[in-house]
Amino acid sequence: MKKASLVLAVLILSSGIAMAGDARNGKKLFKRKCKSCHRLGEGTLVGPSLLGVTKRRSGEWLHKWLQDPKGMVKSGDSVATELKKLYKKQMPHIKAMDKKANREDILAFLMENDK
Ligand code: HEC
Repeated sequence: MKKASLVLAVLILSSGIAMAGDARNGKKLFKRKCKSCHRLGEGTLVGPSLLGVTKRRSGEWLHKWLQDPKGMVKSGDSVATELKKLYKKQMPHIKAMDKKANREDILAFLMENDK
């Protein structure tokens, strides 16, 4: 009985962590993969500031965008189309973002930035 509840607790904990993402790893990823084009505070760099992005876009939209920004524009997504008009350069596909865990880490980091 005790063992079973311990297993259950570990399962709940680890799934919670997986869902929330690891903001510390997200910060590292951001520095390596995103910082050259995005600010975390006010102001445009190559792309828009990511300040507030987890509030203005849904988690679903962000996951899709990070996986395939150009595909989002092609699919006719209205937000993606609007962004394309506003910025001269288009965001490239970033290989590390193919991994769901990496996207979750980045988003956890961006959510902390938006608190
Ligand atoms: C080479 C430059 C470049 C890099 C690197 C880059 N982006 Fe972008 N990003 C852009 C541009 C430009 C846009 C504006 C949309 C467009 O035209 O593609 C954008 C748009 C976005 C948006 C939508 C913003 C909004 O207001 O809705 C998000 C989210 C985003 N980028 C996240 C990231 C993350 C996370 C990384 C790193 C994993 C990253 N970007 C790396 C250039 C870049």
